[in-house]
Amino acid sequence: MNLESLRPLVARIDYVEATGSTNLDVAAAAIAEPEAWPDLSVLAAGSQTSGRGRAGRDWQSLPDASLSVSVLVRPKNVTIEHFGWLPILAGLAMTRAVSSLLPECEVSLKWPNDVLVGDKKICGVLSELLADASGVVIGVGLNLAQTQDDLPIANATSLRIEGATVSFEAALEEFLTEFLGLYNEFLNHRGDADASGLRRGATAKCSSIGRRVRVLMPGDQQIEGQGLELDHSGRILVALDGEHQLYAVAAGDIVHLRHN
Ligand code: BTN
Repeated sequence: MNLESLRPLVARIDYVEATGSTNLDVAAAAIAEPEAWPDLSVLAAGSQTSGRGRAGRDWQSLPDASLSVSVLVRPKNVTIEHFGWLPILAGLAMTRAVSSLLPECEVSLKWPNDVLVGDKKICGVLSELLADASGVVIGVGLNLAQTQDDLPIANATSLRIEGATVSFEAALEEFLTEFLGLYNEFLNHRGDADASGLRRGATAKCSSIGRRVRVLMPGDQQIEGQGLELDHSGRILVALDGEHQLYAVAAGDIVHLRHN
């Protein structure tokens, strides 16, 4: 894998053919050797044997079929209350990257950070705060070359299924370029999602807004209603069915329902 052209973009970039989980590797290295793992350190893997998904789920990363990458950020001058925007920032970056790679397709962001092509998931993001809170590991898994049979769920897709043959390097470059553009603006505005344009950009691509959603929350709680907007800290506001009440969701899985 030749990632030389990407080296100038970030502080460090490493590639491994296979590993357990790039998120776990980066988190361990970032704590053990903080100086060697500064802001914008990247680890990409050709495959993972125990890839981690959100809410304790597994994430499958088959050899020669998927992009698995973790980006360590240590956002200086950004206080922790703005960190909730980082997963959304990564999801938006990948939404834009996939849009460029699939210009004919409808690509959107399902809150907080799944990337959809039509209604099918093509990319997931898992962001994890380091144990010492000195940074965040943002892990991104993109389906590149899977066939429908390779994918663990029917409601998923890959660039190949959507008609694009894209190399690992090209997909990574597209993602990192979008990510860095958004991240630099975020830093320049000290994590202010309004001043940096992040809230506006994410809202424009977020297909959970303006449609009926079911939200599955930790502890088996669930609500249904209309996705209304992203609030100042990146939560999605849902207008509950049959009640004059808004619910601000900070963490949960959204299901897009068919009828508005
Ligand atoms: C999800 O949608 O559940 C999130 C999936 C995140 C997968 C990526 S692949 C790179 C990084 N390393 C991991 O173990 N997980 C993330």
